[in-house]
Amino acid sequence: MKLTTSQNKKIEAWAKRMYRKNNDPYHNFGHAFFVSKMAAYIAKKEGAKVEVCRVAGLLHDLAPKTRGKPHGEKSAILVRKYLTGLKLNNVLINDACMAIEFHDSARRHLAKTLEGKIIFEADKLDCFGPVGLIREYGDLLKIGFSHDRALNTTLDYLKNNNPKYSTKTGNKIKNELRKFNKYFLRVYNKYHR
Ligand SMILES: [Fe+2]
Ligand SMILES: [Fe+2]
Repeated sequence: MKLTTSQNKKIEAWAKRMYRKNNDPYHNFGHAFFVSKMAAYIAKKEGAKVEVCRVAGLLHDLAPKTRGKPHGEKSAILVRKYLTGLKLNNVLINDACMAIEFHDSARRHLAKTLEGKIIFEADKLDCFGPVGLIREYGDLLKIGFSHDRALNTTLDYLKNNNPKYSTKTGNKIKNELRKFNKYFLRVYNKYHR
């Protein structure tokens, strides 16, 4: 079931307002838009529900986030309320909210639908490659790490952050982005160690 242009415009405007209010540089509309786009792409390739993935991707981070703490459940409550008010199809609301609810790393094992797995994978794609590097380092500075400590923690992160993906398409993109991590670490170890 495809959403109308007017429904899409309303959802997008609401998401922009909510992300702006959270004032979190890493969980903002830009990140949500990337996740939405990647999730829809993976869904198309994997035969999953594209519209569910697109909407869930755009709205998955709406509840404010504290580093390391799950916020999927709170986001899903906000999204269910808003989408019900827009009178969207109930199946779409349920599918999207279930994917949002279990997108946090700590609760990903509870995401049993293909759409849920795709939202987790699309979300985490922003944690590899150049953006993953910038996000991790910046976030550590934000919570008070010194440059040296943030740098060393980020290097470990680039090396070890490799969650298991279950879709073929997600894996392919993840591996491509992780090539950047490997290259970055190789150059860093050659000249900066
Ligand atoms: Fe999140
Ligand atoms: Fe996210």
